[in-house]
Amino acid sequence: MSNHYDVAVIGAGAAGMMCAAAAAARGKRVLLLDHASKLAEKIRISGGGRCNFTNVNAGPQNFVSDNPHFCRSALSRYTAQDFLALVRKHRIAYHEKHRGQLFCDDSAEQIIRMLKDECDAAGVAWRMPCKVNGVERSGELFRIDTDGEPVLARNVVVATGGLSIPKIGATDLGYRIARQFDVKIVETRPGLVPLTFDGPSWQPFVPLAGIALEVEVETGSRKGKGARHGHFREDLLFTHRGLSGPAILQISSYWQPGTPIVLNLLPEMDVAEELIASKTSVKKQLGNILSQWLPARLAEGLLLANGFAPDARLPDMADAKLRKLGDAINRWAIVPTGSEGYRKAEVTIGGVDTRELSQQTMMANKVPGLYFIGETVDVTGWLGGYNFQWAWASGVAAGGSI
Ligand code: FDA
Repeated sequence: MSNHYDVAVIGAGAAGMMCAAAAAARGKRVLLLDHASKLAEKIRISGGGRCNFTNVNAGPQNFVSDNPHFCRSALSRYTAQDFLALVRKHRIAYHEKHRGQLFCDDSAEQIIRMLKDECDAAGVAWRMPCKVNGVERSGELFRIDTDGEPVLARNVVVATGGLSIPKIGATDLGYRIARQFDVKIVETRPGLVPLTFDGPSWQPFVPLAGIALEVEVETGSRKGKGARHGHFREDLLFTHRGLSGPAILQISSYWQPGTPIVLNLLPEMDVAEELIASKTSVKKQLGNILSQWLPARLAEGLLLANGFAPDARLPDMADAKLRKLGDAINRWAIVPTGSEGYRKAEVTIGGVDTRELSQQTMMANKVPGLYFIGETVDVTGWLGGYNFQWAWASGVAAGGSI
């Protein structure tokens, strides 16, 4: 009997621990398995070590999914305020940083300790480190093959996360289990990730690494079946290989390879109108005018990239040329070559197709007893604490229903 459980949760990360604690608190015999030697590394490195553990504004509008309404039920039944109550119960000091993002004052370790304590108090059993090789049906039960004794469980919860940051233990086990049980997967790709650019048209921007400014960025379309449109106003950062910063991480989750992103580098101003209106009164060089509004090196890079001499004088420029320059600043459309990939991505877009799961319980419709939660599922949050809120909410949805 010692290897026989009501619930086996594979993956002791954010969603897995939350789910295990919720199921054990309801009297279930629960085992948590994880192959890592250190508990919950992703929580440890999150939010720059302070864990942006939720966002008080979290709602379905902050998530990317092929099935955008799926997350509504779990998110409304376990809210940011519910998680906050747990944080307060454990006397963890926190603060709000930016647009509803809540961080620990001290360390992400406190969130890991809180979840571990919740699991221990509810009587969750642990196997860690323990490599999981696969899951099979065995009559009424599931048999989990590990590098130790096999485990038998009436219910299996797959909480193995996404593919990002393989060096701290991300694997594709969750997707493999899904495929094995004929549960569909929405194609996966890196999300919340810096975008890369190369080729001659990017050369003028290479020396700009380190420059940051607030921009508007958008991509995609609002029209058509399955259309995805992302629009954010956040900080942009030029890097040696391309673009990063919150604006780019956010838009990367909506970006489709081969399509452009459109940047507005001066969202408060119609640059063409401003330049044309000041043609008669301002005699300065273009480079000097633009550097009143933009970092000087960026102003020069933009002029060169668009075929303007920085020392050209404003009164000498035709209106049509100034409109072209205005477009290059207010509507700069560029096609990224690619992204920095899973090595640098904070999350994985796509995953287990939510049309295959119950939105109440996270159980696979055609495999009674098999559940998928957290990042393994095709629900991906924006930057800002939303991904953890999904991990907590989907974990509680499954753990509270088994
Ligand atoms: P998670 O990845 O947390 O856990 C999966 C677990 O499964 C791991 O413990 C892993 O070892 C285990 N596992 C995997 N394969 C296995 C196998 N084959 N056998 C056994 N065990 C296996 N989000 C947010 O809301 N706020 C933030 O501040 C941040 N910051 C952040 C920074 C960085 C650098 C990254 C990479 C990510 C973030 N995130 C974030 C995203 C957030 O960390 C992520 O969405 C959640 O951790 C997902 O929780 P899960 O429990 O689904 O997976």
